[in-house]
Amino acid sequence: MGLFDDVLGAGESLFRNEDALEYEFLPKLLPFRENEQRELARCVSPLFQGRNGRNVLIHGAPGIGKSAAARFVLRELEEKSDEIAVVYINCWQTNTSYKVFLEVCDQLGYKFTQNKNSTELIKVIASMINKKSAVIVFDEIDKAEEFDFLYSLIEELYKKSLILITNYKSWLIELDERIKSRLTPELIEFKQYTDKETAGILKERQQYAFVPGVWEEAAFTLVCQRAAAAKDIRTGLYLMRQAALRAEDAASKKVAEEHVKQALSTMDEFTIKSSADLNDEEKFIYEVVKKHDGKKIGDLYNAYKKDGGQASYKTFQRKIAALDEGRFITLERKTGDGGNTTIVNRKITEF
Ligand SMILES: Nc1ncnc2c1ncn2[C@@H]1O[C@H](COP(=O)(O)OP(=O)(O)OP(=O)(O)O)[C@@H](O)[C@H]1O
Ligand SMILES: [Mg+2]
Repeated sequence: MGLFDDVLGAGESLFRNEDALEYEFLPKLLPFRENEQRELARCVSPLFQGRNGRNVLIHGAPGIGKSAAARFVLRELEEKSDEIAVVYINCWQTNTSYKVFLEVCDQLGYKFTQNKNSTELIKVIASMINKKSAVIVFDEIDKAEEFDFLYSLIEELYKKSLILITNYKSWLIELDERIKSRLTPELIEFKQYTDKETAGILKERQQYAFVPGVWEEAAFTLVCQRAAAAKDIRTGLYLMRQAALRAEDAASKKVAEEHVKQALSTMDEFTIKSSADLNDEEKFIYEVVKKHDGKKIGDLYNAYKKDGGQASYKTFQRKIAALDEGRFITLERKTGDGGNTTIVNRKITEF
């Protein structure tokens, strides 16, 4: 064997389609979620007969295909029918009623939204959708700061299915009675994948993303083990990409176990959850937390101001609470001589 047989040449890559490792990439099939998808289809199917659809609350742990399954159903609907408008909204970014209405208008292709308030926008939405019907997905619904838009949409739209997605089933219990009694959603629980299912899903993604044969068996097994331990497919996607990038950096023609180990050493919670889930302000705050791990929230706020942060203390506290809920950080409540205080820790993932 020559000295350089294992070295990648210029322009050579281990990746065939790196995009397939994006968290948002939607594969052609979603194995192991057939039943959940069928349930979803059953809830929206009355729309095909010109009847009202059912509302749905999808709940389950992070990284197990909830968003993917909902987007999958929307994609099929789009291909099947022109009579059903489809809208997908993530409530991390689109978190107020006004923003929701603007976004719905935008996705329906209505552009004349300037100077219109929420009441006017919902009228526009109703007039467009009530000519046909609609399926509207609100992903990460628990991240919305208000829920009046649900009330308006339920009241104003005749034929629709609202599909809400959350990690916390308890979210529904706390929902305003006025909205809850109108929403009456069917609950669909997404259960965690077994280790075998996790490996199967990652294998398929690997085939999309990589030149055949570049992964050493032991390296891929390690990826699957870590993803199964984290119970999150995103961990596997992240590790596959990072390990292959490390292999390429070393000009190696194979992704080996050592590359996965290197990738593991740089992994933290932030890299696993899609960074697209955080807006710039939240990312900024997260960086401050990382820099000042284990500080009291008041001191952390001072550090944040010193780094150029603009938000009020109250807003800052809210963002910290949201980062905690999104499991980017952990909060610890401590009682000291000065009364109660909150310690903010960056999340340490145990592997
Ligand atoms: N059954 C599956 N087949 C193929 N890919 C899957 C499957 N389940 C999940 N994935 C992939 O795993 C990643 C995470 O899935 P998804 O984004 O749907 O998680 P989620 O349950 O919505 O998590 P969160 O609650 O954090 O939003 C995505 O890239 C998705 O394509
Ligand atoms: Mg999701």
